[in-house]
Amino acid sequence: MMNAMTLHDFLQNEQQQGHLPDAEFTDLLQSIAESCRQIARAVNRGALTGNMGSLDSENIQGETQKELDVITNTIFLEHNQRSGHFAGMASEEMELPYEIPAEYGNAGKYLLLFDPLDGSSNVNLNAPVGTIFSILSHHGKASPQMADFLQAGDAQVCAGYALYGTSTMLVLTTGFGTHGFTLDEEKQHFVLTHHAMQIPADTQEFAINMSRQKLWDAPVKRYISECLQGAEGPLGKTFNMRWMAAMVAEVHRLLIRGGIFIYPADQELRDKGGKLRLMYEANPMSFLVEQAGGLSTTGDQRMMEVQPGSLHQRVPVIMGARHEVTRLQGYHQPTADAS
Ligand code: F6P
Repeated sequence: MMNAMTLHDFLQNEQQQGHLPDAEFTDLLQSIAESCRQIARAVNRGALTGNMGSLDSENIQGETQKELDVITNTIFLEHNQRSGHFAGMASEEMELPYEIPAEYGNAGKYLLLFDPLDGSSNVNLNAPVGTIFSILSHHGKASPQMADFLQAGDAQVCAGYALYGTSTMLVLTTGFGTHGFTLDEEKQHFVLTHHAMQIPADTQEFAINMSRQKLWDAPVKRYISECLQGAEGPLGKTFNMRWMAAMVAEVHRLLIRGGIFIYPADQELRDKGGKLRLMYEANPMSFLVEQAGGLSTTGDQRMMEVQPGSLHQRVPVIMGARHEVTRLQGYHQPTADAS
């Protein structure tokens, strides 16, 4: 690619235009990009590392940890704690927030929440996985408490993900559009390849784990059944379906070619609140999706207005094409016609 803009140059430009919260943010995001680059290397080496198995341990979610879950968590923590911009961090893989040792500088203005290896059951399949992150402001002292992390999605100052697929991509927003960067493997830096990504308002593609159909509530059953009726049904169009089993890959597809992604709270998941985690999965993805012209909701409420009650809280997720998300949200209203 001739004259491609690097992530570094892009961030300098954004800084000049007042699109970054402060002058430190270029450095902070470069540090995150570097940790994603290191994770990409660990993931891409695949079976050569001998790290493809499962551990005996479970994370706080009760899910069996993969060796790579733990390795990538350590990479992200160790790299970003040294940047000096964070007061604390929290990860899917750790029950409690991580306290940054004072020697690294733990009086930063930001909190970092992340899922180091989203979709890790894809690892052995050589299928896409990713890292998701969300950045919140921190106005308090060093050693932030749990309550400091429990901010609604609207409080995010930045969100993004890295996708480790056929190429490695970094996609991020600071509230001025959603932009995608591809890792140039030769030069080992990220290059702006997808400026101002947009999700079309209409779509003919849905993503949902169909194997859970019998467990869904009426609004989701109704919507998917209407999609499946195709051109002859009430939606008047034929739908395609995709399921990648990694939220990063699903959201990337929304940003590249549109669609609607649904992970509802069904009969089995209701007591837990849903499958996906609010703070480091649903919220950052909702920020990216809204900045690309899409919508994101729990069905009852706009996602980024949900007031979190706990760090690992789960939520139902409906996100993507504006018109289809609005339609499905409408089916959740008590007044919705069940036909
Ligand atoms: O983090 C949970 C996750 O791996 C998501 O990335 C993905 O969308 C989902 O679980 C896959 O769920 P299922 O096991 O139903 O395919």
